[in-house]
Amino acid sequence: MLHDPNRIYIFDTTLRDGEQVPGCQLSTIEKIEIGKALENLGVDVIEAGFPISSPGDFQSVLELSKAVREPIICALTRANKGDIDCAAEALKFAKHPRIHTGIGSSDMHIKYKFNSTREAILERAVEAVKYAKSFVEDIEFYAEDAGRADNEYLAKMVEAVIAAGATVVNIPDTNGYCLPEQYGSKILYLKENVKNIDQAIISVHCHNDLGLATANSIAGIENGARQVECTINGIGERAGNTSLEEVVMILKTHRTLNYHHRVNSKHLYELSGMVSRMMRMPVQPNKAIVGKNAFAHSSGIHQDGVLKHRETYEIINPEDVGIDQSEIILTARSGRHALKHHLERLGYSVDRIDLDQVYERFLVLADGKKEIKDDDILFLMGNETQQNYK
Ligand code: KIV
Ligand code: ZN
Repeated sequence: MLHDPNRIYIFDTTLRDGEQVPGCQLSTIEKIEIGKALENLGVDVIEAGFPISSPGDFQSVLELSKAVREPIICALTRANKGDIDCAAEALKFAKHPRIHTGIGSSDMHIKYKFNSTREAILERAVEAVKYAKSFVEDIEFYAEDAGRADNEYLAKMVEAVIAAGATVVNIPDTNGYCLPEQYGSKILYLKENVKNIDQAIISVHCHNDLGLATANSIAGIENGARQVECTINGIGERAGNTSLEEVVMILKTHRTLNYHHRVNSKHLYELSGMVSRMMRMPVQPNKAIVGKNAFAHSSGIHQDGVLKHRETYEIINPEDVGIDQSEIILTARSGRHALKHHLERLGYSVDRIDLDQVYERFLVLADGKKEIKDDDILFLMGNETQQNYK
């Protein structure tokens, strides 16, 4: 089924799982704008929405299918005919449509959510896939709460839905429960125990309740999964989903893993800002890859190192994610090297300045402030003569 065993498919669910965040609802126009940006980024699949959930969501999937032509456009359903009919209708203009249907796979979901049995749920899963297949060729099946499901039962379910026509099987850690080793072993178990597994792509879909979504997704890839479901800025239900930018930069940074995909990482920062703005959801400053501080150095030791050689404290080149350069933040923890760097940047000829003396004045000022900005430096240098400018 897979021509290139190292190809990783990036499935973005910012517009579906990401949009489930309270207060982050987007209009159809905003969704199309983000959809086009995701297409430009190079994602393989865009999960555009859950059409049965509201007329607005239906409309968004319909319009996005017309406006975004390169990636697969995917619509979510539960395992019932009404949902699937609605998704098929919403996808009718899509160039590459995919229906994403599924049902709970853990005993917790089977018993308490569906008040059902393993056997009956398995039948519903197979029926849903067969029914969806009557509309489109590309069917993804999700085994909800697979993270807590019994592996033997999960394998049976996966085998049955592939036999029914599923082209992709999604193994969600819906509640962000697994440890990377557990999640990785689950994927390996499926690879080794599902007879027809090579007829489908295994997809990872991890939530971040324990802060392990990205680590679990990578563990899944290392054990045979080839599609990663993720969102920009890691937004999503509760603590969020696997963050797209983290996965992309892990795969880029650890080239020895030898995986490849089509995402152009240079658009990551811009897209992060766009999603944050449109969803009115600020990015935490220490967020990996796209946070305000992800490329800011503030301690003297680190600043000195970075100014001597960027890679002493930077494993990622900021240009690779679309940021011009890293920042040297001046605080009371900064050393002479960082101060000299900023003085030169502002046009002072440092050879003609008594740096030790300026640094002493700088420390007095910095002790009373969280951060020293350009204005503060100009104030500090106020009594230096004009000839000290270059
Ligand atoms: O987390 C989950 O299980 C999901 C499915 C609906 C795919 O989002
Ligand atoms: Zn989810």
